[in-house]
Amino acid sequence: MQRVAVGLLGLGTVGTGVARLLLDEADRIARRSGRRLDLKWVVVRDLDKPRGVALGSTKVVTDPRRVLEDPEVEVVVETIGGTDPALSLVLDALAAGKDVVTANKALLAEHGTTIFAHARRAGRAVAFEASVGGGIPIIHALGVALAANQVHSLAAIVNGTCNFILTAMTREATPYASALRKAQALGYAEADPTLDVDGTDTAHKLAVLSQLAFEANVTTDQIPREGIDRLHTADIRYAGELGYVVKLLALAKLSEYGLELRVAPTLVKKGTPLADVSGPYNAIRVVGDAVGDTLFYGRGAGMMPTASAVVGDLIDVISGRARVTFRTLDLWSETSPPPKLTPPNRVRSRYYLRFTIADRPGVLAALARVLGAHEISIASVIQHDPGDDAPAGSPVPLVIMTHLAAEASVRAALAEIDGLDVVHAPSVCLGVEE
Ligand code: NAP
Ligand code: HSE
Repeated sequence: MQRVAVGLLGLGTVGTGVARLLLDEADRIARRSGRRLDLKWVVVRDLDKPRGVALGSTKVVTDPRRVLEDPEVEVVVETIGGTDPALSLVLDALAAGKDVVTANKALLAEHGTTIFAHARRAGRAVAFEASVGGGIPIIHALGVALAANQVHSLAAIVNGTCNFILTAMTREATPYASALRKAQALGYAEADPTLDVDGTDTAHKLAVLSQLAFEANVTTDQIPREGIDRLHTADIRYAGELGYVVKLLALAKLSEYGLELRVAPTLVKKGTPLADVSGPYNAIRVVGDAVGDTLFYGRGAGMMPTASAVVGDLIDVISGRARVTFRTLDLWSETSPPPKLTPPNRVRSRYYLRFTIADRPGVLAALARVLGAHEISIASVIQHDPGDDAPAGSPVPLVIMTHLAAEASVRAALAEIDGLDVVHAPSVCLGVEE
């Protein structure tokens, strides 16, 4: 059987999983790709770090040029992460005539147009199944299996770290900081976990999904985003009382007004499929015009699920399939027009609002008046009795669930309410996904 030399950049969580699969399952992978993969090079920063894989005859080096300048290497797998030096390494690999497999959504979201232009010019492919949803084959699903559809909407849990933290906070009352530390120890988090918890990683993934689902060349800064880093446990608790769980969602909806995109902690109705996604699991709900409602579910982060997607891409590249898909999909095209995004005054949802108010007569009526003046209708209210011992006028939480309302009106009402002297600003506002 013919051999194909592969160079692996990075041997962290994902790289180690890739190396393990390539070395432990060499026969199965050779059968399925038609050639025997030779993991010829691995590039790391620190040669002395202990590694969770026995690399045998693979050469471990710190200089990526050893890989890029090796004419035998046909495919470079990038699992370094971030954009520097990942971008220049990927561009150099393409220029050297190598196909590229990457798990790096930050790189694609920030530099997809440059990378894909270079790949097209070089006649090479870039495969990126692991960039969204870990082991879930959502890139293949949107790019190939659902290609007959116009996707109408996406609602997705695509950050395993955040979902792990939210699940631990909701089910076991684990404090946020210790849940985050555990997610890092399990290999779910980015090297800089701020990217997970502030919603940036989810926005990167939504930018990638938007290419495939909507042919929209969206940049990360066009996606309004909030993370879970400023979420209060009180809101998880009140959401529970109202029959919801809080999830970090990536949302995309196509309407006559354009494409609406957002990343935010969102209330999801208990008993619906997305509400039941727990721990590092991810799920992507895709609604297409022909297929209807679909749900893709699986492990969204971690060593072996992500390696499954990377090695699947490698098999696709080596068998020659990836190059055909790459050419026909024409993603991150330099000639695609800027996306038509839904203007903020056309965005509508139900909203969860939490105010901290002085416990005095007339305060609830004052808030209701402001909401009414902005045409926001109240669906339900929670105000717990603070007890007879609480000092008169002391601050108490008031939770209001609205009916469907315009986001612009809700924001204007909140600004007005936060200016009242009986309200302790800032109030909390979360969207609701039924
Ligand atoms: P990681 O554990 O931090 O591993 C990064 C690896 O890259 C390390 O082996 C590191 O070397 C090496 N590296 C970093 N900078 C380098 C440089 N300048 N030159 C040579 N080697 C360098 O990261 P990871 O979690 O595997 O993530 C890798 C990529 O996969 C990221 O793009 C991430 O977003 C993506 N991803 C991760 C997951 C996941 O569950 N972790 C899932 C899907 C996608 P040393 O080991 O010597 O420090
Ligand atoms: N840090 C990412 C997450 C890795 O937690 O989902 C998978 O992309």
